[in-house]
Amino acid sequence: MSLNVFITRQIPEEGITLLKKFCQTVEVNPHDRSLTYNELLERVKGRDAILTMLSDRIDVRLLNEAKNLKVIANYAVGYDNIDVKAATARVIVVTNTPGVLTDSTADMAWALLFSITRRIIEGDRLTRAGKFTGWAPMMLLGGDLVGKTLGIIGAGRIGTAMAMRSRGWNMRILYTTQSSRNAVLEEMFGAKRVDLETLLKESDFISIHAPLSEKTRHLIGPHEFSLMKRTAYLINTGRGAVIDEVALVNALRNKQIAGAGLDVYEAEPKLKPGLAELDNVVLAPHLGSATVETRTKMSLMAAENIIAVLNRQKPPNCVNPEVLT
Ligand code: GLV
Ligand code: GLV
Repeated sequence: MSLNVFITRQIPEEGITLLKKFCQTVEVNPHDRSLTYNELLERVKGRDAILTMLSDRIDVRLLNEAKNLKVIANYAVGYDNIDVKAATARVIVVTNTPGVLTDSTADMAWALLFSITRRIIEGDRLTRAGKFTGWAPMMLLGGDLVGKTLGIIGAGRIGTAMAMRSRGWNMRILYTTQSSRNAVLEEMFGAKRVDLETLLKESDFISIHAPLSEKTRHLIGPHEFSLMKRTAYLINTGRGAVIDEVALVNALRNKQIAGAGLDVYEAEPKLKPGLAELDNVVLAPHLGSATVETRTKMSLMAAENIIAVLNRQKPPNCVNPEVLT
């Protein structure tokens, strides 16, 4: 049996090397860019496995072209870019990379939270522009963290890691979750599960860690912004479309909230008009898992998932386990 794998983007070598030990053909997108949808459509033909990025749209049409496909290993914890139902119907296993990026993503959320509340990026711009003319008592005043309320939307692994990091600031924690209560958060951090409305009304910092689904698309829109404190900061390291980005631009522009720190966007990599002109938002280019250590682990994990499926074994990180039975 000659096994044929396509990797849609250059990733750390460790995973590629591992795949080459088991598969005869391991081809990597040679370009330093994402493939277009049509290029991807051509590249999936005849493959047994594809290792995909969150920026690759894997839909019904593409799956119909990939007649030999047995596994899609997404190089991400989120997999909203894949039509999992359609994959399941074709008995294609879908896997992701949970756990290994939990800490790096929670770190990123805190980095954004600090950057926006302490106005670091604004200050950097001012300093580089030669406008730092000396210490000033009223220059770039931000907000404190100690004793404030942190609202976590989506209390899975990353939301929990976000909360753990708040210990140093003695924060009160509120959370919402679609799954069962988070015992770690409640018992170790005295966190309180509340409804979204309560969380929005009472939190000083709101951080989004819920996956994107039909239930969470535009979870935060005009009505939700109207419930938030005018001093609140919104952080998003999950998926952009959980926020109605046009409503966010309006809320920031009208000072309905104090600021936002974003790593993800509704129509990535495009930004909604006006967003980049605002000073009360920090904009990162989807760097949540972007550390050498994490990306290396992700490459190994995605490779291990592919190898397991091609060896007819249970992959460690399957998101549609119903195909395995
Ligand atoms: C990144 O956004 C991921 O889902 O891994
Ligand atoms: C992802 O790892 C999550 O469950 O938050």
